[in-house]
Amino acid sequence: MADFNQLFDQWAESYDNTVFGTDNEYKEVFENYNGILNSICKYIDDKRHGITLEIGIGTGNLTGLLAQRGHHVIGIEPSTEMRKLATGKLTRVTVLDGHFLDVPIYNKVDSIVTSYAFHHLTLEEKEKALIYLDGLLNEGGKIVIADTMFSSLQYKKDLYKQVEQDGAVNLLNDLNTEYYELLDDVTELYEKIGYTYKVEQMNKYVWTILAQKGGKE
Ligand SMILES: C[S@@+](CC[C@H](N)C(=O)[O-])C[C@H]1O[C@@H](n2cnc3c(N)ncnc32)[C@H](O)[C@@H]1O
Repeated sequence: MADFNQLFDQWAESYDNTVFGTDNEYKEVFENYNGILNSICKYIDDKRHGITLEIGIGTGNLTGLLAQRGHHVIGIEPSTEMRKLATGKLTRVTVLDGHFLDVPIYNKVDSIVTSYAFHHLTLEEKEKALIYLDGLLNEGGKIVIADTMFSSLQYKKDLYKQVEQDGAVNLLNDLNTEYYELLDDVTELYEKIGYTYKVEQMNKYVWTILAQKGGKE
């Protein structure tokens, strides 16, 4: 698995400036950021909430929202600097070192969520991760992924062309070096493990896949 820790250790300090819209290149990627995080919370909100596992928590923005809504959250984050920032911001949350294929917990959870992080895995690793995470989830539990994905190859091609024309070199480099999938390729992985799901486009880049283990979404 590729190691993005150095990149995120360096980005940690300015990460919140990027997501809250002061970085022009990433503006459209993070458009409606709060709305995206809130829609994840809304989907897994439950009368009793249960235990929620969040993977790739970064500076803990989604984690904080979940905790405010009464979820018992365990956050997993491989970058030391991101973990430090998140721990400084959050109360009542357990933050652990780990990643999509290594979650150091011993009991099953009721929901698993992740935002803007699943694209660090190749498609093959994504499949392994979903099978692994399924093993950590209680029956009827939910898995939500929010990330950049594309509805078709043509959409992807047109968007990359636009980014190139805009001269957004950092964003273009990300898009070319990380593992951004077609939406159908990721939903197929959910089908393989028998989940029901629905998808929602949240902005020009980001989709959420809202899925439930062995039941109706
Ligand atoms: C773009 S940030 C997203 C942070 C946060 N979830 C958000 O929505 O703002 C991606 C995060 O994923 C983490 N990450 C990178 N590779 C990972 C992996 N293999 N497993 C879990 N997290 C990973 C990074 O360290 C970083 O904190």
